[in-house]
Amino acid sequence: MEFFANGYKNLKDVSFLADPKMNIFCGENAQGKTNLMEAIWLCSGCRSFRGTKDKDFIAFDGDAAHVRLVFSDRQRNQEISFSVQRDNPKDKRVTLNGVKLPLMSKLFGVFKCISFIPDDLKLSKGAPDGRRLFLDLCVSQIKHGYVSALNKYENALSQRNATLKEIAAGRCSPDDLDMWDVQLADAGSYISVLRNAYAGKLGGFCAPMYSRLSKGKENLKLYYRSTVFESLDGRFDHKGELYEEYLQKLKSGRESDIRLGFTQSGTHRDDLEIEINGISVKDFGSQGQQRSAALVMKLSQAKILLDETGEAPVMLLDDVLSELDASRQDFVLNEIDGMQLFVTCCDPTTVLRHRMGKVFYMRDGGIIAER
Ligand SMILES: Nc1ncnc2c1ncn2[C@@H]1O[C@H](COP(=O)(O)OP(=O)(O)OP(=O)(O)O)[C@@H](O)[C@H]1O
Ligand SMILES: [Mg+2]
Repeated sequence: MEFFANGYKNLKDVSFLADPKMNIFCGENAQGKTNLMEAIWLCSGCRSFRGTKDKDFIAFDGDAAHVRLVFSDRQRNQEISFSVQRDNPKDKRVTLNGVKLPLMSKLFGVFKCISFIPDDLKLSKGAPDGRRLFLDLCVSQIKHGYVSALNKYENALSQRNATLKEIAAGRCSPDDLDMWDVQLADAGSYISVLRNAYAGKLGGFCAPMYSRLSKGKENLKLYYRSTVFESLDGRFDHKGELYEEYLQKLKSGRESDIRLGFTQSGTHRDDLEIEINGISVKDFGSQGQQRSAALVMKLSQAKILLDETGEAPVMLLDDVLSELDASRQDFVLNEIDGMQLFVTCCDPTTVLRHRMGKVFYMRDGGIIAER
């Protein structure tokens, strides 16, 4: 893989040929390591993992940000590039193999990549929205069309919630909810089925991995908890009875939804339950168990992407290894052995214990040395 960035945040003329296995970026704080990881990540077509807006891609004192990535997948060499101009930041120029694309999100699925940052270690104990976001990202990486269902759902939900308030204020009638209920049931049943299927698959990967990590002492179970359906197991037809049940649930919740001013049931309230030895990790897990559970979820995400697409994703580990003890560091590196890694750290000795590959030293937004 070859990478180039200039004017992206503090990055200045960063250009390197990556090692096919291990790439370590080290440098002091605020030198641009995370910015570099983020620029690579954006080539996957996903939004910034820090939530940066397009105009903030550009260096404070610059006019434009340019990023280019060349890599080869199973079929061919691929070249991805994007640039953002200060005078018109909304109009990004995105190209794939020289052909202009209308949106960054059209890059989705070309360059397969997974980011792993310290915040991800809070996945199992944090609020449910973090787990929903995780599931949605995982599913959208393997299922085209999922993102548009999510957008449709989001839109219908905010319209329905606004209508609920209008009804309470006497400006609308409950019948005005019908069209939003239909759209929510339509998108929501589809989202539920896909999330449930993914959760099942995730559980299948996480369980043996967690068992390895805990040396067989503990077992981990994972399942999707729907606020609409009692059970989704063995149910895949989102257009038939699931759709009807979803619609029914919204109808029966109307009165109290109007009173509360928001929609109480639906995929926006669902959660991914994680249990260790039969006990909820979120509520009762120790710190170590919570981190281990999150760790195996992220590693399983990578393995599932490989399993589903036949291509190993690139792993971006930003500052995450230094958060882990030595045995967990080894565990991570062993589990994703064979994948191309980009690792950032302040002190390279921690990750360098057994590994070969390239080390890049960063200072003030540039690579000052490589070995
Ligand atoms: N649009 C921008 N233009 C110029 N500099 C920016 C922009 N956005 C962020 N920066 C700066 O980039 C610098 C490097 O940030 P980055 O997060 O990449 O550091 P880092 O090397 O990962 O540090 P740490 O080890 O603390 O995680 C920060 O000092 C930040 O202020
Ligand atoms: Mg950083």
